[in-house]
Amino acid sequence: NIAQDVDRHGRPLRDLRISVMDRCNFRCSYCMPESTYHEGFQFLAPRDRLDFDEIERVARVAASLGVTKIRLTGGEPLLRADLPDLIERLVHVPGIEDVALTTNGVLLPRCAQALRQAGLQRVTISLDSLDPAVFARMSGGRGDPAAVLKGVEAAEQAGFQGHIKINTVVQRGVNDAGVPDLLAHFRNTECVVRLIEYMDVGNRNGWERMDVVPSQELLTRINAIWPVAALSPHYPGEVARRYGYVDGAGEIGFISSVSAPFCGACSRARLSSDGKLYTCLFATQGTDLRALLRNPRHAGDDEVLRTVLSHIWSQRTDRYSEERATHPAGKTIPKRPYTQDKIEMHYIGG
Ligand code: GTP
Ligand code: 5AD
Ligand code: SF4
Ligand code: SF4
Repeated sequence: NIAQDVDRHGRPLRDLRISVMDRCNFRCSYCMPESTYHEGFQFLAPRDRLDFDEIERVARVAASLGVTKIRLTGGEPLLRADLPDLIERLVHVPGIEDVALTTNGVLLPRCAQALRQAGLQRVTISLDSLDPAVFARMSGGRGDPAAVLKGVEAAEQAGFQGHIKINTVVQRGVNDAGVPDLLAHFRNTECVVRLIEYMDVGNRNGWERMDVVPSQELLTRINAIWPVAALSPHYPGEVARRYGYVDGAGEIGFISSVSAPFCGACSRARLSSDGKLYTCLFATQGTDLRALLRNPRHAGDDEVLRTVLSHIWSQRTDRYSEERATHPAGKTIPKRPYTQDKIEMHYIGG
């Protein structure tokens, strides 16, 4: 096997998360609040986004450096034309073992079958509440839970059953009371619901510490309704902590990046739709790979790209969530975001 490059904290590069589209058909308040992302907002022009040849090239080089997992994200990745063509290319990149997609789900009835045929292995669907009013509030009035559930059903029918996860961002006083309803809906299905602590990603969502419901608190509430027991991780450094219902009704997960940061095993790099490479979800700066990809001097030469990627990774020191947890000096999590010039979530993906 290839020798594995590690970063400054000894972490290998394993995952590449690729944002294929900065636009979204939703306006979730915690990601793309309508007040900023209104009609006049300038999204990327199509020529600014990496094309499929360019994305495949980055994936191929990343795989040569140890990446085995690819996740396609957005904004909303299903807004990208011909996405199945890209998936088909990515699943054939030597070294890539797992290709997954994160989506809000509403376009799945239209594309689930084509995605499956292209070789996509797993789908993660965002769903914050089954209550239409709460859902509307959280999605900026653009969606309804019934449409997302149709998407889940379409994914099941297309053959993703057993490979579907539901991502729920929990915000105190907004959707936390509805968590049991959501869990009840997916008990005894093969869909795994993951409850995500609301994070201070980006700079525009008005994040405050008190909006976060710590996983431990949710776990206590859930355990009182349906007893659960911890399950061992699927792989070292798994983002979600897994629990199984003791009555055998399935599995849930907790993603606790605020109360229990998991930077120690973070092997993720992120590629924005315009080709900047970021080594942390909370990065303030990325490296412009597009300029390199489009430089005629390096056309067809993967070696330069490989050297650049390898160098970026070897210099990496990111551990934002851990630093946030101990900032400024003591052990307290600050009330406000820890820096103010981070990249935005819709641009880099979840
Ligand atoms: P699989 O284990 O491959 O299914 O995916 P995953 O657990 O990495 O989950 P997914 O990509 O669905 O991520 C779920 C959520 O976890 C994201 O939307 C983020 O909110 C959070 N998350 C994922 N990766 C990171 C990370 O590197 N840092 C932080 N702080 N949060 C992350
Ligand atoms: N905190 C936590 N997760 C977030 N996501 C987006 N914004 C946030 C945030 N502020 C995640 C959700 C969503 C995915 C696209 O990104 O999981 O499902
Ligand atoms: Fe769109 Fe997902 Fe962001 Fe919501 S969280 S606005 S669905 S990209
Ligand atoms: Fe990785 Fe950055 Fe998230 Fe920590 S905060 S787990 S370093 S992406």
